[in-house]
Amino acid sequence: MIRDAKASDIAAITAIYNDVISTTNAIYREDAVDESERLVWFEDKKKHGYPVIVADVDGLVVGYGVFGSFRFGEGYNHTVEHSVHVASDFRGQGIGKKILEDLIERARLQNHLVMIAAIDSTNTQSIGLHAAYGFVESARMPRVAKKHGNFLDLVLMQLML
Ligand SMILES: CC(C)(COP(=O)(O)OP(=O)(O)OC[C@H]1O[C@@H](n2cnc3c(N)ncnc32)[C@H](O)[C@@H]1OP(=O)(O)O)[C@@H](O)C(=O)NCCC(=O)NCCS
Repeated sequence: MIRDAKASDIAAITAIYNDVISTTNAIYREDAVDESERLVWFEDKKKHGYPVIVADVDGLVVGYGVFGSFRFGEGYNHTVEHSVHVASDFRGQGIGKKILEDLIERARLQNHLVMIAAIDSTNTQSIGLHAAYGFVESARMPRVAKKHGNFLDLVLMQLML
């Protein structure tokens, strides 16, 4: 089941987020965050009317998705940038697809026109997932980030809604 996240889901969301930080290059951060940091992030999304959703399997939060502003400035109001993360034990079972489908639907309902995924260039799963939903590469930005001493290339993929 895909549903809106609640404050009580923050512990599970934080655990998934920290695992993705420590085991992948999908998030360009190195240090774990605590639940209070994710709660501030969650409240900020809610305040601006952006969705935070979770995949709930029998009461267990196994993934989440979110979108928010792409860049500062009202000229970007019709464009959102989203993220999808699934707990490692639950990947490859269609959960990422369900979260992404729901985010696309919500972005349409909010009358946004463009969705952007910012993906590490080595993340073939995420690039494949987004391509399957019609996202196309619109930028490839060499060495814009660094993690554990290694420069990383960022790929932007966008979907015209
Ligand atoms: C990327 C991620 C969200 C995908 O979620 P998931 O639940 O594992 O993916 P699903 O099972 O729903 O979807 C799999 C789809 O992705 C694509 N895909 C998966 N692995 C792929 C690969 N190696 N190459 C190409 N496409 C791939 C396919 O379209 C596949 O659909 P199919 O099985 O019908 O062919 C998940 O692996 C994850 O959280 N990874 C770590 C964090 C991360 O990378 N987040 C995204 C940041 S941009």
